[in-house]
Amino acid sequence: MKNISVIGSGTMGNGIAQTFALFNFSVTLYDISSESLDKGEKTILRNLQRMVNKDKITQEEANNTVANIKYTTNFDSILNSELIIEAVSENLELKESIFKELDLKCPNNTILASNTSSISITKLAEKTKRKDKVIGMHFMNPVPIMKLVEIINSKYTSKETTDIITNLSKKLEKIPLTVNDFPGFISNRILMPMINEAIESLDQGVANVKNIDGIMKLGMGHPMGPLQLADLIGLDVCKSILEVMLNGLKNPKYKPNKLLVQLVNEGKLGVKSGEGFYDYSNSKKAEFVSKRFS
Ligand SMILES: NC(=O)c1ccc[n+]([C@@H]2O[C@H](COP(=O)([O-])OP(=O)(O)OC[C@H]3O[C@@H](n4cnc5c(N)ncnc54)[C@H](O)[C@@H]3O)[C@@H](O)[C@H]2O)c1
Repeated sequence: MKNISVIGSGTMGNGIAQTFALFNFSVTLYDISSESLDKGEKTILRNLQRMVNKDKITQEEANNTVANIKYTTNFDSILNSELIIEAVSENLELKESIFKELDLKCPNNTILASNTSSISITKLAEKTKRKDKVIGMHFMNPVPIMKLVEIINSKYTSKETTDIITNLSKKLEKIPLTVNDFPGFISNRILMPMINEAIESLDQGVANVKNIDGIMKLGMGHPMGPLQLADLIGLDVCKSILEVMLNGLKNPKYKPNKLLVQLVNEGKLGVKSGEGFYDYSNSKKAEFVSKRFS
């Protein structure tokens, strides 16, 4: 496998493109928005420079990575890929329409993967005539750093497709772990209730932002507190994942907390919008708690 395309150049898509390109795959990154595409390109260039500065890769490897990525807003230019990874916003109808169109237009042997955090891979597969070649390839954020790829088999995914994607993940020096297709899979089924509970605790005044995050870091050995992690993931993404689990698992414990819903409605989405539980206007690190919580 040599030619890979990624759909969506947001938080996850640009990281996925960078990772494949670093390992010498030829990558086409497609987004419907040229602004998102420009932002994605800038993020990739900045990340690669940082890796060179930290001696993680050489300047030559960074240059090769850059040369391996094409950026496009033309959907047709991604169709001749051996693997297409969809990383658009967490919305079932949007993803279903993309899988339907890809299936109609791509060669029969193209594998279609989704980086969804929670949406049913089985439902996406059912929009295609290649159900055996549809799979979940759930990278973690930030993609270039995090080792895990959660591989999700739908009820139709063939062993051959799982084997190809597992081996491919290893070529990226990632560790693939396979799960079955349930809302939220394993990672978010366990993570999101914790994040939701942290937000509920803040909302009820149990503790402030710094102390909630500090307790989980110092007490549980987490590298990042749940509120900071929610900002990094994107508060809109967290809300969407909780809603998918609420509807899919039919359990009210997954209902997004009202403060989370409020922040999303106000456009406070975390790192990507400049403010969430922390304020990122002066620093991309979670140094300053947002004024409304301080
Ligand atoms: N953010 C995380 O930490 C994280 C982690 C793992 C998985 N995910 C999953 O990855 C996917 C992407 O999440 P994200 O955080 O990168 O979202 P994001 O909001 O940062 O980016 C989404 C991108 O999709 C683009 N897009 C929307 N509609 C499109 C279309 N029709 N065609 C092409 N591009 C389109 C947008 O322009 C945007 O650039 C979601 O399914 C999410 O659940 C997110």
